[in-house]
Amino acid sequence: MADPAHVVLVGMMGTGKTSIGRPVAAHLGRRFVDSDEQVERRTGRTVKEIFESEGEAAYRRLESDALAAALAEPEPAVIAAAGGVVIDPANRDRLRRAGTVIWLDAPPEVLAERVVDGDHRPLLGDDPLATLARLAAEREGWYREVADAVVDVGSRTADEAVEAVLAVLRGAEVRST
Ligand code: S3P
Repeated sequence: MADPAHVVLVGMMGTGKTSIGRPVAAHLGRRFVDSDEQVERRTGRTVKEIFESEGEAAYRRLESDALAAALAEPEPAVIAAAGGVVIDPANRDRLRRAGTVIWLDAPPEVLAERVVDGDHRPLLGDDPLATLARLAAEREGWYREVADAVVDVGSRTADEAVEAVLAVLRGAEVRST
């Protein structure tokens, strides 16, 4: 395998990739990397500012660069990948070689209740439910394509979802040292 065995969480906005990924990383004694935080750190701008000044296509390139950089780190990490990384076929290739990819899944109705837009999610707009439903329909096949396992986060609390991810990883024999 070219890349080290990272644990990568993928899925729609609001599925809890960051809030679940952080405790999973702590539990495994690994570094936690949020790909959008990396984009914001590298550019000094929020995701919303990048969308507004340069447009979505420019943001998607930065998103892909951040994913590639996170996956290229030699130390196995837990990586929360921005929701849209699966759009680009090159990213899907990278993800398939990344280690263990876990798709956090929940129905758009649940996500619309949980999601917070802020400066990070300019796509949500005035009708988050409609947007989430449309994006989920577009992406479902891609998440499925890259995922080694699916964890249903719609019917779980955050703590239960962390446990479920750790259970998947125990099955995948991801080492904690
Ligand atoms: C996006 C998800 C967001 C952020 C941007 C676009 C998407 O990240 O990258 O607003 O297209 O699904 P999260 O998945 O971390 O919310």
